[in-house]
Amino acid sequence: MNAISKDRFISMATFSRVAGATAFVIAGMLSASAQQPIQPRMGAPLPGLTPAELNRFALGKDAFDHIQDVSEGLGPIMNDTSCEHCHFGPTSGGSSGKAVTRFGVAAVGPNPFDPLDNLGGSLQQALTLPTCTPELVPAQANVVIQRITPPCFGFGLVEAIADVDIQVREFIPPPGVSGRAHIVTPAETPLGPPRVGRFGWKAQVATVLTFSGDASMMELGLSNRLFPIDNQPNGPAVAFPGGACDTVPDPEDGPDGQGFHKIDRMTDFQRFLAPPPQTPKSGMTGEAIFNAIGCASCHVSTPYTTVPVAEAALSNKTLKPYTDFLLHDMGALGDGIPQGMATETEFRTPPLWGVGIRAPVALLHDGRASGLNSVEDNLDAAIVAHGGEGAASVVNYNALSAGDKLHVHNFLLSLGRLEFDAEYDNNVSEVDWFFSRTTMTGPGVFFTPDSPIAINDIDQDGDFDLRDVAALQRAFTGT
Ligand code: HEC
Ligand code: HEC
Repeated sequence: MNAISKDRFISMATFSRVAGATAFVIAGMLSASAQQPIQPRMGAPLPGLTPAELNRFALGKDAFDHIQDVSEGLGPIMNDTSCEHCHFGPTSGGSSGKAVTRFGVAAVGPNPFDPLDNLGGSLQQALTLPTCTPELVPAQANVVIQRITPPCFGFGLVEAIADVDIQVREFIPPPGVSGRAHIVTPAETPLGPPRVGRFGWKAQVATVLTFSGDASMMELGLSNRLFPIDNQPNGPAVAFPGGACDTVPDPEDGPDGQGFHKIDRMTDFQRFLAPPPQTPKSGMTGEAIFNAIGCASCHVSTPYTTVPVAEAALSNKTLKPYTDFLLHDMGALGDGIPQGMATETEFRTPPLWGVGIRAPVALLHDGRASGLNSVEDNLDAAIVAHGGEGAASVVNYNALSAGDKLHVHNFLLSLGRLEFDAEYDNNVSEVDWFFSRTTMTGPGVFFTPDSPIAINDIDQDGDFDLRDVAALQRAFTGT
């Protein structure tokens, strides 16, 4: 046994001994007090799903992870072969630095922005089936930008926020900002009432089903009942047999044995994904500063409550995504691509839940805040890039002391962290126990939520005691 594995062996042995004794010692204590709920890790289903819904979640994950092949309708042009190939960090349904390209011709005088629809715009499909011509960025495009992949966690809850609960911040805006709701029509209800968009970098989509249909078509080339006709390279959509290199008749997606299309399955997975965890759950100095300097004017720090929907696990639930879901003029940070109501310079405030996991990878729509010396530097670069309506809060941020900036960064890094996850890898394993076992304090008040040890204080009473260890046992996932 080498030194490291021996150490891990000992730490595991200690873990089982302490944990075993703990269960015995405090069984009585716990029966008197409610058990602390364990936050689901990213990629886990929402708590409270029925067995039938859990089954749909599992089948949905299969569809989301499934690698499409040519016989199923992949292509003729696409950006990848499965949803998961872009949405994978730290697990299926998540985010990544993988980027797609959008292009067009900028507005000049009375001529508006031209998305070059007839030349395959504004989204490029960079890959092609072997027999097909590739889609290239047309020579006349003078706006060519990248957008990276955001995560899909907690999207059933996001979808179940009432439109009016988003619009209230448009009608009664916080001082200094003027967000606008992006009003759109879901593809599945073309004649139904318009809804407030909330998905995508420009809030261009209101429902998970529309996004799943759109992404199936635009990213995988899988035509479906909502987006029924395949794209052709640098040309308008042409129904089969017009496009000779994809021989599967449109629409390529269709019902399985239970009547669900692939886009329905993918939708189930995303709707039933739990929201990202946050640890400590509250009380960090950085959050108070974040609120005080105006970040929360857009990255709303108060919770939303969902409306009643078909699933109890999604109904009347609170969620704290740290966004207003509104479009804001971000000045020079804009990407030059108008979409629907959203102008060249507008972006939706992105949810900051889970941002601690994204920060080491890439931040901002084009991932420009990445690859710096530290996670803190990536966060700092993302913050100071805010222009337009975000500029005033940057002035306040720049005026903070180094210590207060660190508080803000530490708060942002708490968004996405599991309790007890010292390694910050979305698992609670024996390695985390190895790191945390020496920090036990026993009962009392020993530290605040700003302390690194606070990740072990699940009941947030200022200590890391046997009650917390009992919760650690339940949170234990292994590597
Ligand atoms: C080639 C990489 C890629 C693939 C493959 C891909 N996506 Fe995405 N996804 C993205 C990017 C980039 C965005 C941001 C799009 C935008 O708003 O411009 C995105 C956004 C989303 C969003 C909205 C996220 C938010 O923050 O609101 C959803 C939902 C989504 N994708 C679902 C899917 C599904 C379902 C599939 C499979 C059918 C899929 N994606 C395949 C890259 C990808
Ligand atoms: C006017 C609204 C607004 C204010 C105020 C604001 N933000 Fe943002 N924030 C945005 C928008 C919009 C984006 C997305 C911009 C982009 O991707 O180019 C963003 C992006 C971010 C990101 C990157 C998120 C990601 O997933 O890539 C971080 C981190 C962030 N903001 C933190 C802050 C902090 C900290 C403050 C306060 C100093 C703040 N924001 C103030 C609107 C705002």
